[in-house]
Amino acid sequence: MSQRRKAQFIRFALVLGLAAAFSGVAGCQYLADLTPVDTTQRPIAQTYAPYFPVGAAVSSWQLKAVETLVSTQFSQLTCENAMKMSYTQASEGTFTFGEADRVAEYARQNKKRMVGHTLLWHHSTPSWVFEGLTPGQPDTIQTLRRRLKTHIEAVVRRYADVVENWDVVNEVISDDTSKLFRDQSEGSRWHAYFGGDDDAGREYVYWAFRYTKDVLESIRPGFSKGKLYLNDYNVVTKYKKILRLLKWLDEEKGLKVDGVGLQGHWSLSWPAVGDIRHAIDAIVAAGYSVKISELDVSIYHDYAMDGSFSPQPERVFTKELQVEQAHRYGALFELFREQSKKMTSVTLWGVADDSTWLNAHPVAGRKNYPLLFGTDHQPKAAVFAILNFEP
Ligand code: GLA
Repeated sequence: MSQRRKAQFIRFALVLGLAAAFSGVAGCQYLADLTPVDTTQRPIAQTYAPYFPVGAAVSSWQLKAVETLVSTQFSQLTCENAMKMSYTQASEGTFTFGEADRVAEYARQNKKRMVGHTLLWHHSTPSWVFEGLTPGQPDTIQTLRRRLKTHIEAVVRRYADVVENWDVVNEVISDDTSKLFRDQSEGSRWHAYFGGDDDAGREYVYWAFRYTKDVLESIRPGFSKGKLYLNDYNVVTKYKKILRLLKWLDEEKGLKVDGVGLQGHWSLSWPAVGDIRHAIDAIVAAGYSVKISELDVSIYHDYAMDGSFSPQPERVFTKELQVEQAHRYGALFELFREQSKKMTSVTLWGVADDSTWLNAHPVAGRKNYPLLFGTDHQPKAAVFAILNFEP
């Protein structure tokens, strides 16, 4: 390391150290070592290779804008949007693969694996899928099955060589504690058009997994092994419902799903590390793998414990906040390392803070700083927190 760089690092370390001392690192018991690390010498993906692949969600423009970070720090890629149905098949039978192809081609050429995200998501199902259909009718279900099969076969075949595993269904579990499945009141027309009650509604989940498994097996017998995931948010509170669904698929439909993706859109203090560990343990004990599929750590706490929404005003991303976030990332990655035998990957939902969905959600235009690299594309203290550990 050059003297200049070293001096910069030491200055940064002092600032962070002081900030940590003054901030009291609110709410986080885990204290990570924030000594600066040269990520060109100790890249994230390489450091974590003995534990699990570390990935990032990208759009193709980022393969130029932050190419150095993508190529050196991450070993797996997810298309942030480009593989979703509203992008790949916005109108029936017309497939648009350009954007997803660019990411997949980059992955192939740079020897990175991908996550296929996602084959069925209520939020990204174009309206043509339900056009002209009457909910619950037998011919409706036939038509929906045909449309789903066509879609899944086209996408899965195209990227089968480069995709490590598929988020086959996304967010099918209800947020309502009294319900198992997301239904029409929570935006799922799949559930409604398959019949609207849970016995009928859950069938679409089965068919999504069935078609994915069948197309993978048709490529090569045994090829579907380890590739079928259910992905959702708030898994820490929803995991029992997820396990009921997976048990039904396994025992009554003869279809074993491989794993559960915990999206991991978390905040500085929620959910508690112990609760995440508990959910992972329960999922693994039931016989499934786990991955963290969309990790980011928001600097805002917009939801109260009862789930009500009370958006916080914009915050300045102070050094103190950066330190608090770093300790949180450190605590999460310590848990992931501890659980690494059960975990198949950890994916960050973006590369650097200049491009994150959280700048638009849940409050449009409010700046957030949830990722590992800053708006200047430099490693944040969070990077040092996850890289400083004794193997
Ligand atoms: C959900 C989806 C992702 C993405 C994020 C917001 O978590 O699974 O694909 O759309 O919302 O960016």
